[in-house]
Amino acid sequence: MANMSVRDLRERYQCFFEARGHRRIPSAALLPENDASVLFTTAGMHPLAPYLLGETHPMGTRLVDVQRCLRTGDIDEVGDSSHLTFFEMLGNWSLGDYFKRESLTWSYEFLTQELEIDPARLAVTVFAGDADAPRDDESAAIWLGLGIPAERIHFLPKEDNWWGPVGAAGPCGPDSEIFYDTGRPDHSGCRPGCGCGKWLEIWNNVFMAYRKTADGDLVKLSRANVDTGMGLDRTIAVINGCDDVYQIDTLAPLIARLEALTGHACAYSDAQYTRAFRIVADHIRAATVAIADGAIPSNVEAGYITRRLIRRAIRYGVELGIRAEPFCAQLAETVLSVLGDAYPILEQRRDVIVSELAREESRFKATLERGLREYRKLFERLRRDGRTTIAGADAFNLYETFGFPLPLTLELAREDGLLVDEGRFGELLEEHKTDSRRGAEQKFKGGLQDHSEQTTRLHTATHLLHAALRQVLGASVRQMGSNITPERLRFDFSHPEALSEAQLREVERLVNEEISRNDSVSYDVLSLEQAVEGGALAFFGAKYGEQVKVYSIGAFSREVCGGPHAAHTGELGGFTIVKQEVVGQGVRRIRAVIASPCEG
Ligand code: SER
Repeated sequence: MANMSVRDLRERYQCFFEARGHRRIPSAALLPENDASVLFTTAGMHPLAPYLLGETHPMGTRLVDVQRCLRTGDIDEVGDSSHLTFFEMLGNWSLGDYFKRESLTWSYEFLTQELEIDPARLAVTVFAGDADAPRDDESAAIWLGLGIPAERIHFLPKEDNWWGPVGAAGPCGPDSEIFYDTGRPDHSGCRPGCGCGKWLEIWNNVFMAYRKTADGDLVKLSRANVDTGMGLDRTIAVINGCDDVYQIDTLAPLIARLEALTGHACAYSDAQYTRAFRIVADHIRAATVAIADGAIPSNVEAGYITRRLIRRAIRYGVELGIRAEPFCAQLAETVLSVLGDAYPILEQRRDVIVSELAREESRFKATLERGLREYRKLFERLRRDGRTTIAGADAFNLYETFGFPLPLTLELAREDGLLVDEGRFGELLEEHKTDSRRGAEQKFKGGLQDHSEQTTRLHTATHLLHAALRQVLGASVRQMGSNITPERLRFDFSHPEALSEAQLREVERLVNEEISRNDSVSYDVLSLEQAVEGGALAFFGAKYGEQVKVYSIGAFSREVCGGPHAAHTGELGGFTIVKQEVVGQGVRRIRAVIASPCEG
């Protein structure tokens, strides 16, 4: 099927599963809500974690969506023909409803009948079994029955065919992956999952039958789920016979815009520039959506990732000779034109996107200018000492502190008749990458959606805080973000000025009074319209026409939310506000803790 658009694929996928009893749900934001264990939403299943662990979903037991995702684990691979940091994931879910047979059969039908992919180009992998879970003969038999020949069904171990948990704890299970044969030459030992580029993974069916606990135990879920994820960008590239993913209609316009920004001095097809074009396009696309979803460039957490993406893009933009500025914001306009229809938040946040990108670009350009002065000093020092080689450590300092890409240092050195110790530079870069990777892994130690009793209680405390703030400060207070770890809650809300000490104490008193009332926490499933008419607060994600859960806490709070929550407010210990901060114009942040019930 030639030239299907990204928009077509999103639509056909969702219609296909709607015809099989699924309900569409909207994409969640890139910044996870109520979940401090990961910086960004990395897969479609991420916002659904509470339901995969047993919460009731208001839209039922069969769901389908297109989720925006960001992964930076493979950031160094970006620049090849298929890796991306930002991507869209098509997903269908069974929450304790259908299982392997329906899931694999529908995947096969969608690919071969709806998308008309030649079955001879498909191969699959299934879990080989180990001490934790048995070999997945059932999936293999289903694939055989569908017509995949035995030699194209590969049994692979956990490293390949087990999904999750994200981090140390959460839902997980064996999976079955579907690969597409790109037609590149085979080599000895080549098989799906080998990474040489012959086999492209396009769809993953996860049979989520387990939960890994924080202690590392694998517990069987009372209700097994299916979580599937298809990489939209790669799949559309495959269907359209593109050589690389940057030719799809949500990326090609970015490459064209970049070529124009170089004054057509560099062409994407010129092999010496291809990688740089790809990195700039990918990173600015990712940063644009991240900013729209609230990850403003900064030195911490998600904001730091946004900053790194932008700065990396600028470095490669310099390599492409883009001197026009600010170019990131110009490229973001193109991102809006290709993704704006699917993600309305982009248009809503257009001004913030443009101003944050322009600000970050001018900050980083100033750093590069300082780097140039640093380079001049270095050059003078070398000349004075009669040396002709820039040490690896000095080149690395220019890179790390001043953002100089190695080619820029090499170019300056060449003009000045100097050499650069590239070998040592490479070693230092490797060491640095290993350290950053370790840092990122640390971040994930908590695991996806920690559902300990303490985080559940803190989630209930967040609703109480929200209601109390509105009583004290007025109904213009809106939730802007929420982040919970087992130790504390963090709540962002709109309010133009700092709270006085008396206001803070009054908020605290109201929350504690509600805790001592020991009111029960319960929910109703309503349409969003009914929920709002009934006075429930609804600020996030939900679309009109959708069924939502409305959590009520006595007469104190009514809010649209997925849960989970404590059953009674008395389960929360004493509530204390630890700190208030300002996080942006008109946005304030409160950090608070509750005593564990035995202390409380
Ligand atoms: N969670 C699985 C993945 O990300 C399937 O959606 O691949």
